[in-house]
Amino acid sequence: MIDKSIDLNEIIKSRRTIHNFISGKTPDKSIIKDAISTACWAPNHHLTEPWHYYFLGKETVSDICDLNKKMLIETKGIEAAERKYKRWMEIPGWIVVTCLKSDDEMRYQEDYAACSCAIQNLMLVLWQKAIGTKWSTGPVVRDERFYDLVWVNKDMETVLGIIWYGYPADIPQTTRKPLQQVMTELP
Ligand SMILES: Cc1cc2nc3c(=O)[nH]c(=O)nc-3n(C[C@H](O)[C@H](O)[C@H](O)COP(=O)(O)O)c2cc1C
Repeated sequence: MIDKSIDLNEIIKSRRTIHNFISGKTPDKSIIKDAISTACWAPNHHLTEPWHYYFLGKETVSDICDLNKKMLIETKGIEAAERKYKRWMEIPGWIVVTCLKSDDEMRYQEDYAACSCAIQNLMLVLWQKAIGTKWSTGPVVRDERFYDLVWVNKDMETVLGIIWYGYPADIPQTTRKPLQQVMTELP
């Protein structure tokens, strides 16, 4: 049965993308594993379960930060690249989420949608435990070298993004459009 004491509306509405995490305070792996396990209960057409979660260790994180720095030196210059490198190296937790590719375009679209639902599940479950997340999709996640670093075969899986997690250092504020702007009632 559903526990009515958990106010899901509040969890959904209060969750924010967290840009700054408390450094050096990494949530327990067991909490993250439980959250991933729950995330998999997302709706998915034909029960394809198209998602995969890569839990990154220090070595892989460091390699990704190096790659991102290399890419940024070319586009934004050395100072911006070094600033970002330092920032990224301090992010407590890293997960990469992928979706299985398919030659069937409709199936792929639906699978991608299902993976997005799973990521939202993951972020909400963690938020309920006071753990913040940020879904990140910068140019680095589309780079072939990134796929190599996370051992993902580009022909088989698409990276949906990096999900950074940790305890929030601050919680940004944001807004949403009023309901009448996003909803139409039909007869
Ligand atoms: C598919 C997707 C990709 C995103 N990529 C980034 C990103 O690369 N950088 C970033 O700062 N935020 C990214 N975000 C987070 C959004 O910027 C954020 O959800 C939006 O500003 C609304 O804020 P909220 O999540 O606090 O409601 C992404 C969100 C989604 C759904």
